[in-house]
Amino acid sequence: MYSGEQILNLKQLTDQLLQSTDEKNIAQQIESLKKVLRFHEYRYYVLNDPLISDYEYDQLYKLLEKIENENPQLITKDSPTQRVGSSLNDGFETVQHLVPMLSLENSYNADDLIDWDRKAKELTGLNSIEYCIEPKFDGASISLIYENDILIRAATRGDGVEGEDITNNIKQIRSIPLSAPFSEYGIQQIEIRGEVLMSKKSFAKYNDWLVEQGSSALANPRNAASGSLRMKDPKEVARRGLEAFLYHVSYYVNQELSTHNLRLTTHDSSLQMLWECGFRSPQKEKLVVKGIDEVIKHVQDFEEMRDTLPYEIDGMVVKVNEFALQEKMGMTTHHPRWAIAFKFKARQATTKLINVEFQVGRTGAVTPVAKLNPVAIGGVTVTSISVHNEDYIKEKDLKIGDTVLIERAGDVIPQIVKSLPELRNGTEAEVEFPKDCPVCKSKLFKEEMEAVWRCINIECEAQVMERIIHFVSKDAMDIKSFGEANVRKFYDLNLLKDIPGIYHLDFNAFNTIEGFGKKSIDNLQAAIEASKQQPLHRLIYALGIRFVGETTAKTLANAIENLFDLQNKTEEELKELEDVGVKVAQSIFQFFRNEQNIAMLNELQKEGLQFKNEKREIVAAGGLSGQTFLFTGTLAKLKRSEAEAIAEQHGGKIVTGVSAKLNYLVVGEDAGSKLEKAKKINTVKIITEDEFLQLVK
Ligand code: IVH
Repeated sequence: MYSGEQILNLKQLTDQLLQSTDEKNIAQQIESLKKVLRFHEYRYYVLNDPLISDYEYDQLYKLLEKIENENPQLITKDSPTQRVGSSLNDGFETVQHLVPMLSLENSYNADDLIDWDRKAKELTGLNSIEYCIEPKFDGASISLIYENDILIRAATRGDGVEGEDITNNIKQIRSIPLSAPFSEYGIQQIEIRGEVLMSKKSFAKYNDWLVEQGSSALANPRNAASGSLRMKDPKEVARRGLEAFLYHVSYYVNQELSTHNLRLTTHDSSLQMLWECGFRSPQKEKLVVKGIDEVIKHVQDFEEMRDTLPYEIDGMVVKVNEFALQEKMGMTTHHPRWAIAFKFKARQATTKLINVEFQVGRTGAVTPVAKLNPVAIGGVTVTSISVHNEDYIKEKDLKIGDTVLIERAGDVIPQIVKSLPELRNGTEAEVEFPKDCPVCKSKLFKEEMEAVWRCINIECEAQVMERIIHFVSKDAMDIKSFGEANVRKFYDLNLLKDIPGIYHLDFNAFNTIEGFGKKSIDNLQAAIEASKQQPLHRLIYALGIRFVGETTAKTLANAIENLFDLQNKTEEELKELEDVGVKVAQSIFQFFRNEQNIAMLNELQKEGLQFKNEKREIVAAGGLSGQTFLFTGTLAKLKRSEAEAIAEQHGGKIVTGVSAKLNYLVVGEDAGSKLEKAKKINTVKIITEDEFLQLVK
């Protein structure tokens, strides 16, 4: 897309724009800003290889936004600022595709592919055919129309003939360019097809967030992607981190004015054009081969490495490469004859739902768990699956005795996709939700607007045990060789009754426990001892405060000197912290109002756990990871941009204003209002340039 020389020029232009306040030619400055922002979006979202920091990108973006606000007549449709639609989607209009969106024929093994190749040879009259093979992306399909190089419409697949207009939401996906130079290829209007995906990483993050909010996790990234495309608020879509691959040109109007060498004669050349126009097409993932034997080998090899990809694919698509041959082969009403999907081994299976049991979690939430007839999917035998809550059971129409379709997407925890009511024989039973806690028998409660029933007896054995399990777990205090099974064992043997009990276990009593030799006792003792040195953010997370996940725990740890500082914070003060909303602030505040919790913290402090923020030590060890910086006043030794770059190189983050989220304010000469403001927030550390240089030394 960009030549080496262009890249150098654009980087140079970026630096100039970041530094200069030259406002002579507004129109030209806007053009330059749009050009460099588009370039950096491409580097970041398509190539995954940014050339500037997020902070620098934001600076340029804000500059463009400012100039455009002052000169609204100069705003163009393809300006990067125009992605962010302010209005909500008010329903989605039905629109007609220029060419129907067909499906694909499926194949499942080498014989199916050999059959298909034989038909292809008959239809074309050739002995051997050139094929282009690419991944079959497992997302939601979309169709985009560009006219005169501008994205004018994006639609869902719908019924294949008509879809829904989702242009505003699609504009939130930054790997999709708002303008693309199709005119260089002689193209005035073009319709292209592709797939919107959520990467495995974004999906895991999104699911964690859903669960933290008290909602049910989604079964797979595909559902997450297609759900996101129809969201009312485009800003929400932007937050989901969606990606898009474009893999098919379905229609174009040719002006015969191409200034480009590339001729669109093969599928392969269309992928190349899309790539050169700035799209993420499977240009690097595709392979062109001759003859079906090579195809079979490649699709089988690719299946082996399917789990190493950052996104889900459910197979490969094999396409006849030459457009002339594609035309000769034609299509049915359902699929083109020139393409076939090779489906990987299913990660779905059907099985019987034998029973629903109820588990009490560490926050008292009662979770129904479906017990299944054991079934193998993707190399794992599944016997039980969480079915989240009562609403979920209703929504999925689950009954005991039902046949259910289950799915395991990659590393995702198995989920029930749906029940199959058509297979019922009348013996199926409704799932009865308990009124009392299945463990301590106290009455269950459900808050308004919540889907979850809770046991509110915090001494309920199940909750106590789950809290200890969480405390010792890998992401929390990471007490190796402790684990869930041991917590349950020690608890049942009356050796462990609460979290502080971990630190005064009676190891003499262990001699009588089966499977506990001297070595395992020594290991466990050492691991418990070592956990006392775990950093504060792990301890905060380990406490299991509702809605406080790992990220929030880090934010909290960064904002305090000592764990007990949280006890003195008001809900308002807590809300000022990044990502801390009303619910989270309330929950933290309540946690520190509970006497039993405070007694537990006192005991843990006595045991020597890390209650202090070890930030300064971390910094001394050379990492500013997660720390926020702001520079103010004139620095004597460094340019401001250099100082910021140094902070970022050491893992720090640059912020734009003084707030409780700021960790370090670095002050130079003539520092003004920022310094005054920072002095009022006692968590902000105010340091000189020399002190900053010491930090990063
Ligand atoms: S080509 C006319 N290529 O799979 C041919 N489709 O199961 C249009 N899909 O509807 C399709 N990856 O949404 C094609 N590399 C790929 C694909 C792909 C995913 C989707 C597409 C299609 C569905 C059929």
